[in-house]
Amino acid sequence: MRSEISGFNVYIHTPVLKKYILQQVVRPRDSLVLDATTGEGGHSEAFLQAGLDVVGIDRDPVILKKAAERLGKFKDHFTYFNTNFNNLKEKLQNKYRFDIILFDLGISLFHYQESGRGFTFQKDEILDMRLDASGTSASEIINTWPQENLEKILKEYGEEKFSKRIAAAIAGRRDKKPFTSTRDLRELIAALVPRGKTDPATRTFQALRIAVNRELDAITPGLNFALSALESGGRLCVISWHSLEDRMVKQFFSAAAGKRKKINKYRAVPGSASLYKAWPLIIPDEDEIRENRRARSAKLRILEKIKLQT
Ligand SMILES: C[S@@+](CC[C@H](N)C(=O)[O-])C[C@H]1O[C@@H](n2cnc3c(N)ncnc32)[C@H](O)[C@@H]1O
Repeated sequence: MRSEISGFNVYIHTPVLKKYILQQVVRPRDSLVLDATTGEGGHSEAFLQAGLDVVGIDRDPVILKKAAERLGKFKDHFTYFNTNFNNLKEKLQNKYRFDIILFDLGISLFHYQESGRGFTFQKDEILDMRLDASGTSASEIINTWPQENLEKILKEYGEEKFSKRIAAAIAGRRDKKPFTSTRDLRELIAALVPRGKTDPATRTFQALRIAVNRELDAITPGLNFALSALESGGRLCVISWHSLEDRMVKQFFSAAAGKRKKINKYRAVPGSASLYKAWPLIIPDEDEIRENRRARSAKLRILEKIKLQT
């Protein structure tokens, strides 16, 4: 995995599809970007270097501070807010109109490798997984949620075939010895689930992270705000990392733009005066995947607000 080194900080997350976005999405007329998931600021930095101004959002104050240090050299061209993107209507109100809005969903490599909050089973850490201080930690979920709720999140958010077995084993063990660490949980799963291509704990950890941060609940409010804050002719870009996210984005875009390819391609969102066009799905090319293996899971969908002739 390539790292970017700047000053005393090492930025470990490689921004995916950066070249495509700079070459195909950004136009000379564009001036303001909303980066709704700033993370370590990789995409934001690319936009700033291209001469655009950026408003950066992240719900994790730790990673946003890292981005703010990295992007401080751009001075007033980078403004940032620590908030959940489901809250942008209240936070930004009608203050800005954006030419480009980017959501790069999920979590950053920083969270797996540096946060110490238990996002990965590859290290022994506390089972927390919260992106911000709000909400229920992963250990609270594991140690207190009813067995059927555990089974449900494992099945829905992890698409885990062995959800019933894992939930039963967690419920059977936690009263005697509550789960506190990632290693503890991983060992339990390893004893229950046959090894496949991926580590047997992968799906459980994904499910827990999504449940802890209520990640899927934020997507529709975030995208609705984006449509309202997009300039006429502006472009909404959403990068998703797994099928649950992508399904939601695809459905949202279809509802906005309609599915038909030729005539009537553009359809108004009910209650909105705007028309939208969905671009064909974009995925990283082989070169990018060779450089950054993680990029193989990324899917970029773009929705363009049509500029109406007046
Ligand atoms: C894949 S990373 C973004 C990486 C970034 N594009 C870069 O180049 O460094 C996703 C980021 O979104 C943040 N995030 C996830 N859900 C969020 C939400 N609902 N509101 C705001 N930020 C969120 C995470 O904390 C994480 O930093």
